[in-house]
Amino acid sequence: MENRILVKDRYFVPYIPYERLEQAIDAVAERINHDFKNFNGTPIILCVLNGSILFTGELMKRLNFPCEFSSIRLSSYEGTLSTGVTRKVLGLTSSIKGRTVIVVEDIVDTGKTITDLHALLLDAGAADVKICTMLLKPEVYKKELKLDYVAMEIENRFIVGFGLDYDQLGRNYKDIYILDTNTPRTMRKHFLIFGPPGAGKGTQAALMIERFGLRHVSTGDLLRREIANGTPLGQQAKTLIDQGLLVPDEVVEGMIASELDANPGVKGFIFDGFPRTTAQAEHLDRILADRDGKVDAVVSLMIPDETVFERIRHRAEVENRVDDTKPEIIQNRIDTYHAKTEPVISYYKGKGCYREIDGLGTIDEVFDKICAVMKDYE
Ligand code: IMP
Ligand code: MG
Repeated sequence: MENRILVKDRYFVPYIPYERLEQAIDAVAERINHDFKNFNGTPIILCVLNGSILFTGELMKRLNFPCEFSSIRLSSYEGTLSTGVTRKVLGLTSSIKGRTVIVVEDIVDTGKTITDLHALLLDAGAADVKICTMLLKPEVYKKELKLDYVAMEIENRFIVGFGLDYDQLGRNYKDIYILDTNTPRTMRKHFLIFGPPGAGKGTQAALMIERFGLRHVSTGDLLRREIANGTPLGQQAKTLIDQGLLVPDEVVEGMIASELDANPGVKGFIFDGFPRTTAQAEHLDRILADRDGKVDAVVSLMIPDETVFERIRHRAEVENRVDDTKPEIIQNRIDTYHAKTEPVISYYKGKGCYREIDGLGTIDEVFDKICAVMKDYE
């Protein structure tokens, strides 16, 4: 097993080697074979996609009684937290009326998915439903439903591999890995993406996130999430925004601090749209220093004012925002940008982490220049 793997933006470490999974699958298959030895009829093996694709394959080749195969696709996880909502993405691929169904799941966590599915199958006319899961997190399983076959129990931690994913990645690993909560925080990198409106920050940040496995920290997104979740912080922010007021620095900084703390195993962060002022930059330094970190590099996309002007005007035209095409309004935005951000640039120059990149050129050309700079931080 490889030692430590990066899946999207997080590190995972070895947890269950394939050989141990095989043994557990041997044992559970033996129990199913025993129970179905003299069964009258042909049960349906129901693979719950996507997670149980590998487990179902391994299990099926060990079953020695006549059986059919069918699949269904459900989804209830986003990121590393159960959203608690089971959605049927793809229906049953064959009729189960009057049939005995053996549901094959990768993992049972809270049990929400499996209980919903159990009810759904009985509704669809199944005569009997047996549950077989590769893994169970007994600490979190809260349901009454009997789990007929459990290959292995695990602690309540987030895992990937052998069919299990983190944001759709990591399913292809043969072994199972666990989220690494022990990566020293000093190993985390913190980048800022910086530049005038129209410099292509959004585009380049997205490319950086993918190539370098960084987690995106956008204060706008964080605020929207707090508001959507109706947290006290979100409510406070909403009241201010509704009055057309700015959200105070402390609120934004509080959100950033909790985002840094809520993400164990993350390789690095990229801040987008923050800090906008020297005061915020100083606060960010303090927040990071409290967590044994620092701003490693400020990736600054530079384009001449004329280009900024043209790009803003063009964007406003395309998006049909007539007001924003007025030269004096555009010039005003550019002036504001200079007045506010120039001091931030000097601040980071003083810290020695300011890396300026010529933002002119195609997306690929600019990204190549960014990659050349990022080499120093790998
Ligand atoms: P439940 O509804 O809370 O029991 O969640 C079950 C589903 O969540 C599984 O079918 C998986 O898709 C997903 N899941 C639960 N725990 C993990 C994990 O540790 N890693 C990856 N996916 C998980
Ligand atoms: Mg699943």
